[in-house]
Amino acid sequence: MLKDKYASEIAQMLAKYPVKNSAVIPLCYLAQDEYGYLSIDHLQEVADILQMPYTDVYEVATFYTLLYTDPVGKWVLQVCDDNPCCFTGGEELVAELETQLGIQAGETTADKQWTLQRVKCLGGCHGAPMLQANLDFYYGITPDKVPALLETLLQQEQRGTMSISGRFAER
Ligand code: FES
Repeated sequence: MLKDKYASEIAQMLAKYPVKNSAVIPLCYLAQDEYGYLSIDHLQEVADILQMPYTDVYEVATFYTLLYTDPVGKWVLQVCDDNPCCFTGGEELVAELETQLGIQAGETTADKQWTLQRVKCLGGCHGAPMLQANLDFYYGITPDKVPALLETLLQQEQRGTMSISGRFAER
């Protein structure tokens, strides 16, 4: 259980906020890092720690695209398909990734290496078309750049420098 295994880290998280519920996102990241994604049971664990309704935690987890309520691969590729990115090739980027990875948007490869998702504006419109790979933004990704991007990500993984989750990004 998170509350036992991470008692001291949780106490530090809660101490940062005047209201316990404000720690819901850091706690969701903790649960996600521990379990890989946020199932109903995992979200209930977070709700129990914060003594808040499960539905409130669920609403947060399903609003933010960096919180995953289904199992995901090592790399989560979130392609922006909002208007500016679409006008500059976002749909073609999704199609190329689907071809290269052999999955449809919303799916994970059988080897659990890649998850491909569509998301709305990531605030990187100046570099459209763009995508987010775990925590990192990659701009100007036209279909011809997809093979090099995938290779770059695999190399990051081998070097142990892949971005993982917001829990670690906050440090
Ligand atoms: Fe794609 Fe804003 S529309 S980042």
